[in-house]
Order: sequence, then C-alpha cells, then structure tokens
Amino acid sequence: MSFVQIKKPQSLQKTLGIGLTIGMALLWIFALSGGVYVSQNKLNELFDSALAETAQRIMPLAVVEILNRDEPEKAQQVVSFKAHEERLVYLVRNNLGQILLQSHNADPTVFNQTLLIGFNSSTTHRFYGVSAVQNTLHIEVAEPLIQRQEAIIAMAVTLLWPLVLLIPFCFLGSWAFVHYSLRHILAYRNEIESRGSGDLSSVKIQDLPTEIIPIAESVNNLLDRLQRALESERSFTANSAHELRTPIATALAQVQRLQQKVSAGTTQDEMVKLETTLRGLSNLSEKLMQLAKAEGGGLLAAEQHNLISLLTLIVDDSQRSNAVNKITLTLPKNREYMSVIDPDAFAILIRNLLDNAIKHGDRNQPVDISFSTNGILRIVNASSVIPADTLAQLRRRFVRSNISVQGMGLGLAIADAVVSGVGATMTFNSPATGQTNGFEVKVDFSTIKG
Ligand SMILES: Nc1ncnc2c1ncn2[C@@H]1O[C@H](COP(=O)(O)OP(=O)(O)O)[C@@H](O)[C@H]1O
Ligand SMILES: [Mg+2]
Repeated sequence: MSFVQIKKPQSLQKTLGIGLTIGMALLWIFALSGGVYVSQNKLNELFDSALAETAQRIMPLAVVEILNRDEPEKAQQVVSFKAHEERLVYLVRNNLGQILLQSHNADPTVFNQTLLIGFNSSTTHRFYGVSAVQNTLHIEVAEPLIQRQEAIIAMAVTLLWPLVLLIPFCFLGSWAFVHYSLRHILAYRNEIESRGSGDLSSVKIQDLPTEIIPIAESVNNLLDRLQRALESERSFTANSAHELRTPIATALAQVQRLQQKVSAGTTQDEMVKLETTLRGLSNLSEKLMQLAKAEGGGLLAAEQHNLISLLTLIVDDSQRSNAVNKITLTLPKNREYMSVIDPDAFAILIRNLLDNAIKHGDRNQPVDISFSTNGILRIVNASSVIPADTLAQLRRRFVRSNISVQGMGLGLAIADAVVSGVGATMTFNSPATGQTNGFEVKVDFSTIKG
C-alpha cells in the first residue's frame, strides 16, 4: 500500500488571494487589539480623574449640609429636582459606617462595606473614597463599569467594520493582480498550445518573469533535442526504405524470371509465396517512405492547387487499375477548391484512403467519394461495423482491425500524419452517417491556414 498522497494542483491565484487576505485580516486584528488596549488605559485614566473630581466637589457641600442639620446622625436622601437616570451615585457615612447622606437612587449594597480611601473596583463598579472633618465623615462615589465597557466595545466595533469590506476587496484585488502578473506566462502557454504537432522549433521567451525563464529555456532545450531525435529517426526510416527498394526490386525480378524456368509443382507454389512476400516487403518500404515524408513537414506548397482536379486524376487512375469496385464521385458544380496543401502529400493521403476503401470494403458495393464546396472530403464504403474503441485506435501505426487482407497497418497512420501536418482534421465513422453499416472517412480541408 502506498502512503504517497497525490496533491491536487493548486491555483497560484487562489493560494495568493487567500494567503494575502488572511495575512491582511490578521494584521488588522492585531493593530486593532493594540489600539483598543491603549485607548482602554487612556479612557480609564480619564474616567478615574472625573470620578475623583466629583468626590472632591461633593464632599464640602455634604459636610455643610450634614453639620447644619438638627439631627446630624439621621440618614437623609438627597431629593432630585426631577427623576433622572443617575450614572454617578454616592454615599456619605460616618466613621461607624452609618449612612448620613445618599444620592437619590444610590443602592448601599453595591458600595464597599469598609471605608476605603482612593480608587478601587468591584465586579460591577469603580469607586473613589475620601474622608473629611478629621476622618469623621467619609464619602464614596461609585460609577458603573458597564459605561467604560460600552465605550470600548463601540470603538472596537467601529474599527472592525472596515475589515468586513476589506476582506472581499483584498481577495479580489490580489486575484486580479496575480492574474495580471501571470499574463506573460499565459501567453507563453498559448504559444506552446497553438503549435501543430510538426512544429518543434523553440518557443519565444518574451517578458517572462525571471523565475520562469529557466523553465522556458529547459523547454526549448528539450524541444531542440526532440526535434533532432525525430529528424534522425525520420531520415533513418527514409534512407533505409530507399536503400531497400533496389535490392527488393532486383530480387522480385529474379524470382519472376525463375518462375518461368520451373514447371508447375511444389517449387512453383513456393516461388509464388516468395513473390508475395517480396511484394509485401516492397509495399512496406514504400509505406515507410511515405510515412517519413508525411511526418517530415514541408507538406504545404508555396502556391494554391485545385484539389478537385487532383482528386479526379487520382480516382481515375485508381479506377483503371482496380477492376472490381465501382467508384462514384460527387463533386461541386464549379469543380474548384483551392488549397495550399502540397499536391504530393494530397496524393499520398487520397491513395491511402482509397486503397483502404477498395481493400477493406465490400467488393460488390461501390465506393462513394464526395467533395463539398466547403472543403469536406467523404469516402464511404460498405463493410461490417468497426467497434468504437477499435475505431479510436486505427490511426496508430501498425494497428489493424481487418487481417483477412494483406496490409501493414500504416495506411491510416500516414493519412493522419499528412492531415495533422497540414492542419486539416480527419474523422472516422462506422457505421457511415445515415447507414446501418459501412465505414466513412471525413477530411476537413477548410481548416488549413496559409
Ligand atoms: N475504408 C475502410 N473500410 C473498412 N475498414 C477500414 C477502412 N480503412 C481502414 N480500415 C480498418 O482500419 C485498419 C487500419 O488501416 P490501415 O492503417 O490502412 O492498415 P491496413 O490497411 O494495412 O490494414 C484496417 O486494418 C481496417 O480494419
Ligand atoms: Mg491501408
């Protein structure tokens, strides 16, 4: 069992967008916490000084009030002018802790039970205490802590709001910026993608980021090596096929001469077999030469040629040498379709497709060839249906599905090399369009540029 996990490729745009946004949000929250902490300290100082000030102001008034009473020891509540919500409340007590004076809605239970001087806090209130008249009177002013908490929360919320707007803004911003920065890499990718299979020349390196240039250079080196390897393979195939041609032809001629000398019998039969083998070998060397030419490039001519007159020539030629099948040809009225495809390459393509239609098709049925005004060639012949998965493999070298007739499995590989080399497209259908059996090849020449 393997524990190696294959990670899904990540988009740089997404990773950077998320990373930068999280980083920005964390920094913002960090700065916000610092700001809130400092403001809280300052705010406490301010509130405390107001609290102390209030206590100092009330004390002399309270002393006068208590001393002027008939019964100073009796508790009294200060009546407010008008009922209102009081934030600051106070108690004036004597040194025994008896309440002498209290603000109108002061609740004595929230106050400290002992008489404390200066600042102190409970869970709900902040207090300030002072004493006067030789410590016989003590005033304690209380302020609810909720007020300070509310102020801090309001401030934190105000500072947090922009973050809600900033998060999508930062994400979209970095997304767009990364997209913009990657434009040269995308152009580079398109440049590679737009190449036909025959084009292995180096890819232009333009305005690429310095991090990517080494990759682009390695790609170019690789393309260069690939091109040289392919070229040497092609020239080897072409040369060997060429070199084989003469000895095979000589051997074939000698066998034919020998055949006339021997009388009928086993030797004659073996001679016929030998001739068939030599013919097969001759065909193979011919096909290998065609394949090397088709894969070698140079399949486009400098000027345009009329494909329909070329097609008519090839079909007539084939009809003359093949007495069995009937070939029907359907052409557009003006009999003209101009294209830059090299006439030799076009002939190689048509011969291979037509040979297949004659060889693999039903001998008693006609081969239908049509060429439409928009550059689509169709060759249809009767045959049994070829399963879709086999159909998809046919254009590979040495793949055959009908082995009852002689062949090398190179015909469709050659046709495919020509078609993709010139920028046309080829599709196979079995059964043929609108029929229940048969085989159909469709080549679209309209996509050839030039
Ligand atoms: N016109 C056709 N009709 C029926 N089958 C075909 C036709 N053309 C090609 N095929 C199938 O595709 C296979 C591959 O064709 P090809 O590459 O030309 O090799 P070969 O002709 O040497 O067998 C053939 O073996 C045959 O089964
Ligand atoms: Mg063939």
